[in-house]
Formats: sequence, C-alpha cells, structure tokens
Amino acid sequence: MIKFSRTLTGALLMGLAFLPAFVAGKPMPDTGVLAQQLEQEFKGAYRENPESTGQVRSFELTAAPAEWGVVPPYRTAVWAYNGTVPGPVLRIKLGETVKVKLTNKLTQSTTMHWHGIRVPNAMDGVPGVTQPPIEAGGSFTYQFTPKDPGTFWFHPHLNSPEQIERGLQGALIVEDPKEPRYSQDLVWVLDDWLFENGASIYDQFVTGHDLAHDGRWGNVASVNGRYLPSIPVKAGERLRIRLINAANGRVFSPTFDGLSPKVIAVDGMLAGAPFPLAQFNLAPGNRLDLDLVIPKEAAGKSLAVSNHFGRSPQTLAFLNVEANTVVKTPAFEPPKAAHFPAWTEALAVPVAHEFILDAERGGPYGISWSIDGKTGHENLAATLPYGKFSRLRFTNQSGRLHPMHLHGQFFKVLARDGEPAQENFWRDTLLIGPKQSVDVGLVPLDKGLWANHCHILEHAEAGMMSTLKVE
Ligand code: C2O
Ligand code: CU
Repeated sequence: MIKFSRTLTGALLMGLAFLPAFVAGKPMPDTGVLAQQLEQEFKGAYRENPESTGQVRSFELTAAPAEWGVVPPYRTAVWAYNGTVPGPVLRIKLGETVKVKLTNKLTQSTTMHWHGIRVPNAMDGVPGVTQPPIEAGGSFTYQFTPKDPGTFWFHPHLNSPEQIERGLQGALIVEDPKEPRYSQDLVWVLDDWLFENGASIYDQFVTGHDLAHDGRWGNVASVNGRYLPSIPVKAGERLRIRLINAANGRVFSPTFDGLSPKVIAVDGMLAGAPFPLAQFNLAPGNRLDLDLVIPKEAAGKSLAVSNHFGRSPQTLAFLNVEANTVVKTPAFEPPKAAHFPAWTEALAVPVAHEFILDAERGGPYGISWSIDGKTGHENLAATLPYGKFSRLRFTNQSGRLHPMHLHGQFFKVLARDGEPAQENFWRDTLLIGPKQSVDVGLVPLDKGLWANHCHILEHAEAGMMSTLKVE
C-alpha cells in the first residue's frame, strides 16, 4: 500500500480549488505588433543554423555493467559508459560535428539524449518520439553539429530512473575558441546515490515513496562519481567550473567557502551579464558555469564546496589549494552573451499554453504525475510556431517540486506567480516550486516534436511527460 504524504494528499484536494493569480481583464495592446517587436529584440540571441567547420569528431560509447569506487574501498556495481561514472567528457570546438556510436551492452534497451543541445529532431534520443529503442546488443550512431557553445550532458531516455541512477550519464562540452582562457576548465558532474549495505545501489526504483515526494534522493553525494573528492588548485588561479546536476531528484544549491564566484552561463548558454552566485537552485538537468578566482591568501588551505539546499548543509568536495605557490590571475572580462533580449513588454502577450502540473491516484505505479491531466509523450500538449514569440505558463497545482525540461529549446523566465521576474539568461530546465506558477517566453528555432517533461526522473516515468511541436 502506498501511503500518501500529507503534502501530496493536500495537493490532490487543493488541485481543483487552486487558481493561479495572473493579470486578467487588463486592456491588451495590439499583441501582433508587440510579438513582432519581441521577435525583433530576439534576433541574433542565438543561431538558427550551425556554423560548421566540416571537422567531424568521432567517439565510441559503450553502455555496460562495470564497477566503480564511489566511496573507496567499496566497489559499487554500476552501469557505465566506457567503464567510468560519469562517462568520458566529450569535448569539442564550436563548429565541429559530433559523431557518437553508442553500443548497448546492457540487458535492456536504451537510447541517448543530448540534454540542452539543439540537435536535429531525429538525434534527440526519445524512444517512441524520435527513434526506436536501441535493443540490448544493438547500436546506434548519433551525429549532429551543435549550434551553441557551452556545458551540456548526455543520458539515456529510457528507463531513466534506473539507467541514470546506476551511472549512465556524462558531459558534452562545446568550447568557443573566442571565449577567454581560464587557468583550468573543470567539469563537475553532481550526483547523489541511494546506497545500502556499504555502497550497493538500492535496487527498488520508482517507489511509492519516490513518487509521493520529489523523486529519489540519495544518502551519498558525489562529484564526478567520487564521494568528497579533493580537487587540486593553486592560489591565484581563475577557474571555470561547469556544474551539471545529474541526480534523479536532488536539488543542489552550491556554495564555495565564503568565496563569491560569478555565474557566467546557465544551462550551457552565456548569460546576458555575469551575476554573483548567491542562492541558485540547481535542479536535476540544470547546469551552471562559474568564474572563480582562488584568492592568494588561500594558499595551503582546503576550501569546502557545500550544498545548501534542504535541511542541513552537506559538503560535496574540497578545493585543495597548493601551499607556497601563488600564480598570476588571468585578467579578462568574463564572457557574456553577445545579445540577450530584455522582453520587458512580453507579459502583454497572451499565454499560448498553460501546463497544469499535478498528481492523481492510479496508473501503473499507483500514483501518476500528469501534465494537463494527461500522462506520457502521447500527450501533444502544444504546438508552437517556428520563429515566433510564444509565452507559456507552467502552473504547479501540487505540493512537490517539478524541474520542467523542454527539449531542443531555450526559454526565459518572465514572471513568477504573476509578478514580473525577468531572468537575464536562458534555461532549458526550470524548477517550479509547490503551488507556483511561472511564465516563460521563447522563440523556437528548431522544428520537430520535442519532449517536455519533469526532470525528476521518477515523476517523468510515472507520467509527467508530454511533447511540444514546433512547426
Ligand atoms: Cu535531460 Cu528529457 O532530459
Ligand atoms: Cu516533477
């Protein structure tokens, strides 16, 4: 029997009564003219087509069972790409074409999704939507030329609560040679694991508990597959740290021992302007690129990187600053987006679609998570016109968290609970809190049928999945 948590039951009861507060009955200006103005403002914010150099970079990834030392000396039985968790970092330069042959040596089907990359629709890795599953023993070759530089990642899109949790995930970095050179360019994949008996992965997935809460939250956090790693740095170094939240459900709100890094990119895309990392909730699927200078006085110290989301802070890693060495800090302006639309008038455009996020009893798991009362990618929730401004609203009628991820698109937050709340950066994943309603704007430049789902993998598996069509 599934016991409903109080909040979920509350959510179920409140669902009907809850109406979002938004501006109704205000005289609307001529929205056609306004939308054109917003599209004009958007022009040049990001590319329509890739600028290819003609270079092809080929990689081979094999998904297979392996052993990995998350918490040495324990060996954890995992599923891994090429034997490591996370998988190898795929690093390319903007303009290069990525070609990845994925071989499936699991005993179940899989696919690969390139999270955040604006790929041709057929390369998006969503089984039943963009490709058939890659069966055990089979393989599939993905090929695409990323349009945007930045921090992206890859993971299966089939049985993802288990496949990602067991270790199938990795980073894809698209470097822009025009961006300044940092002393070190680090990729940190953040994850958490639910271990029992030493360091064995608890092998019940999509449990009633996971579904009644914010998915599966673990008891051991890791950075690049290691519990509490020490990362060597030097005083004076200027680091670019690329954070990726690859956890099934956990939200990370990272801090750096009293230091104040600047956020230069969110979800891979450079922000309109760099901003200080105060509290930023990095939900599953989100990425942050940080610009961090190690102060001269830190030589010989160990700086703790901690997670402040949730009840008690949790240490994730240490920056081990070499003693008796101070290097010269590279001096340059942090990179920022060449162009970013302000879209201050965007709230005057009517909402094209409101997604209602909620739960109900029933379905294969006993609890279903739904979008507009429907479950699964058979639900074509909305059709968006290519190249035109659309305003969308996500309304969470439940008492749980939902990081909503839209494949193949970037959007900008315009309002939270009806109050203008302009973010100066793009996102592909947006954390929506209990009973919260968030408006976003976008101009889709990538045609196809794109998944739109909660990135709490258990919620998505239990129905919180839909598609959007761009045509
Ligand atoms: Cu990383 Cu469909 O998601
Ligand atoms: Cu959710």
